[in-house]
Amino acid sequence: MKQICVIGVGYVGIVTGACFADLGNKVVALDVNEQRIANLKKGIMPIYEPGLDELVKRNVSAGRLSFTTSYQEALKGAEYAFIAVGTPSGVEGEADLQYVAAAAASIAKEMTAPLIIINKSTVPIGTGDWVADIVRGAQGKPIPFSVVSCPEFLREGSAIGDFMSPHRTVIGSLDKDAAGKVAHLHLPLRAPIVITDLRTAEMIKYASNAFLATKISFINEVADICEALGADVKEVAAGMGYDARIGKYFLDAGLGWGGSCFPKDVQALAYMAKEQSLTTPILDSVMNVNYDRRKAAVKRTEEMLGGSFKGKTIGLLGLAFKENTDDMRDAPSIDIATELLEAGAKVRGYDPVAFETARPHMPAVDIIGDPYEMAKGCDALIVVTPWNEFKQLDLEKVKGLLKSPVIFDGRNIYDPKAMKEMGFNYRSIGRGTNGK
Ligand code: NAD
Ligand code: UGA
Repeated sequence: MKQICVIGVGYVGIVTGACFADLGNKVVALDVNEQRIANLKKGIMPIYEPGLDELVKRNVSAGRLSFTTSYQEALKGAEYAFIAVGTPSGVEGEADLQYVAAAAASIAKEMTAPLIIINKSTVPIGTGDWVADIVRGAQGKPIPFSVVSCPEFLREGSAIGDFMSPHRTVIGSLDKDAAGKVAHLHLPLRAPIVITDLRTAEMIKYASNAFLATKISFINEVADICEALGADVKEVAAGMGYDARIGKYFLDAGLGWGGSCFPKDVQALAYMAKEQSLTTPILDSVMNVNYDRRKAAVKRTEEMLGGSFKGKTIGLLGLAFKENTDDMRDAPSIDIATELLEAGAKVRGYDPVAFETARPHMPAVDIIGDPYEMAKGCDALIVVTPWNEFKQLDLEKVKGLLKSPVIFDGRNIYDPKAMKEMGFNYRSIGRGTNGK
């Protein structure tokens, strides 16, 4: 049993803490947000993540997982300290490292024994060395420590499965002893372990996220070409995906990527390049293509309604940036709602989970707790988030409730032919019908 401290109990920290506890380690999870810690002590999760509630409760009951706001308490006896605090976008697109800096300084002040500090947050290249400088500078008396990069690759909505069965574990450190110990900690995950230097590990994380975002922007560009020429992008993606060099994942065309990571990480990578006087034509296009998706969805819906939103009510099916999460950070629904409101529409929204988290992002949107209630009297629906429950909706009932049977399916969850047969004025993404 290893003793681990996890700093930050957001999406990554709480999953990291609970999973390491489940692997048999003793974990103390810390956050400066007192409310979050008080709630966790009462069994209330800080986020919606499938399976998290049970996992946390099981490990708390077993005495392997506890929560605190005190660095002193969290670091007592700890051999490993994971930093999992936020690294949001700064004003110019750079990663804002204030929370990492604060965590590093707090660790330095409260550590009383040798410690391996493992950075799980996504941080610009060179941050590991910078964290080491902060710790060294803030220590009262010198105590040995080592900083290791161990970026996290989990996705929200499938975070526990992703954490427990990663494609690889990346460990960045030239300190062989520290890297070996961190590798040992991850052995139960049975994934290939890549041990490299700090900076390379930090870059692997950015390059991975940027590549996945590129793949999505690529298929979205292909989708528009498909639509214009009468091909079906879903089948094109499936056909491409059989080629192992391409792979079948991250080829779902739609409203593009949002969330807490791709947007800020692609931007931060471009910013790092700019600082080195490099240009990033690919990353710039990847971002431009992505943000155009949201505008294009609104424009296409407007066309379906005869060219104007004036006096029209539009219902958004799904608000979270993706399914199975309550996360609203850079959710496409926010931009779509704003554009619709600016064009004179009334906007309603429904999400199975993200109703509370959505409210502050869209105060002028009427968030309704039932999809059928929301559809009642709407001139059009836009599918924004591909929640499974939308695939199971009683569409005949929905059609009867709508003022006009218009659906713009921004995530290609319905079958165009079936929708047409049911009498919907239906449009989706990149699915031309010329060939059928
Ligand atoms: P988050 O915003 O959900 O959580 C961060 C937590 O850190 C908050 O609870 C906050 O109160 C706490 N915190 C801030 N300053 C602190 C301090 N000084 N001491 C202790 N706690 C502090 O963030 P997140 O989504 O979990 O992301 C964390 C990092 O992991 C980011 O760098 C992100 O890019 C990366 N990441 C996120 C995901 C994801 O799916 N969300 C996946 C992989 C990597
Ligand atoms: C993403 C990465 O997939 C994780 O590996 C990484 O750890 C994480 O970012 C991070 O660094 O935070 P996440 O943002 O949680 O995970 O979710 P994804 O499943 O990657 O989806 C991101 C966005 O892309 C969502 O808006 C989703 O709807 C969209 N997407 C995804 C598509 O439009 N098409 C696809 O084929 C896949």
